[in-house]
Amino acid sequence: MTVGELKIKNYRNYEEEEFSFSPGINLIIGDNAQGKTSILEAMFYCAAARSHRGSRDKDLIRFEQEEAHIRLKLTKKEIDHVIDIHLKRTGRKGIAVDRQPLKKTVDLFGTVNMVFFAPEDLYVIKSGPAERRAFLDEELCQLDRTYAHDLSQYNKALLQKSRLLKQIEEQPSLAETLEVWNEQLVNYGVPVIRRRRQQVAELSEIIAEKHGQLSDGKEMLSASYEPSVEAEEFADKLAALKGRELASGLCLTGPHRDDVGFSINGADVRKFGSQGQQRTAALSLKLAEIDIIKKKTGDTPILLLDDVLSELDTGRQIRLLAGIEDIQTVITTTGLEEETQKKFKTDKVFTIKDGRRIGGS
Ligand SMILES: Nc1ncnc2c1ncn2[C@@H]1O[C@H](COP(=O)(O)OP(=O)(O)OP(=O)(O)O)[C@@H](O)[C@H]1O
Ligand SMILES: [Mg+2]
Repeated sequence: MTVGELKIKNYRNYEEEEFSFSPGINLIIGDNAQGKTSILEAMFYCAAARSHRGSRDKDLIRFEQEEAHIRLKLTKKEIDHVIDIHLKRTGRKGIAVDRQPLKKTVDLFGTVNMVFFAPEDLYVIKSGPAERRAFLDEELCQLDRTYAHDLSQYNKALLQKSRLLKQIEEQPSLAETLEVWNEQLVNYGVPVIRRRRQQVAELSEIIAEKHGQLSDGKEMLSASYEPSVEAEEFADKLAALKGRELASGLCLTGPHRDDVGFSINGADVRKFGSQGQQRTAALSLKLAEIDIIKKKTGDTPILLLDDVLSELDTGRQIRLLAGIEDIQTVITTTGLEEETQKKFKTDKVFTIKDGRRIGGS
């Protein structure tokens, strides 16, 4: 799939602007704080109905304005579609696809698929297990509604159990009800563990290939699932840890304590990887996400790269750009090194200044 025209009105620092994207590689150039990321954010909103930065809807509306609009035109399997987003300072947001208002936000998902790569994603490998679990969950929730449901039920049960453990400190007789929550945790946790294991195995194969290309064949990246407990042992381990959980007031085992390990040529990237290796590995993860979406939906997603080129050396930049030639990409940058510019072909260049497009069309 490809996107064509994007129109934004009273969005962030934009009053009214439009962009007509090429199906190939689009480059958005501008100094800091001019409005580059905001363009990608508006596009991504049309895929996910939220800001990739986690901003509140009303923060997306231009200061002192009441409403913002986003309109994105796209072509999917040779059919044209249009997505309209209407954000209001007070009241619910409105979303329409092909001019039909949607009753539920979830009905938007799948209309257009995008993979967003922001500078903070470069740290997913070296940050904590929570970020790595979030990465895995975000991908799985997009692809698998059953997983999304199981995970949310698991998290609800976990919250209830945590509360109960605190209450038991004051009212020990409540300990009997702990079993109820443990059963729920096993019910929903076991499929979560199994699905994560399967996903990491699939991911590991694809990232090995992607990372190999990015590092010019020098490095072998692999991922391994590090569950807090194996699916088959979850119930027994909960029973065995009951005493310690009561004493500590904490939920000591389960998928909420999982991690994903990454290794390059056998060494743990989390501990021993250089910054460049960690960034390349993170990039490989995003490129793998593209392949996984392709496989699942039978269509290519759109790749949004926010300011990540400057974080990679020239060799890695060039190999990255070579790897995404067949997919529509929008890249933001404050400027490109001459060598990179010479070696890769951009189909369209937009220049942004103070919420206005001053170059490109
Ligand atoms: N609701 C809003 N109304 C008006 N202006 C806003 C609003 N939200 C953010 N801005 C401003 O919009 C500008 C553009 O922000 P954006 O993040 O898109 O810049 P950028 O070009 O990506 O910058 P950088 O290169 O630093 O990442 C910033 O100056 C910001 O302060
Ligand atoms: Mg930015």
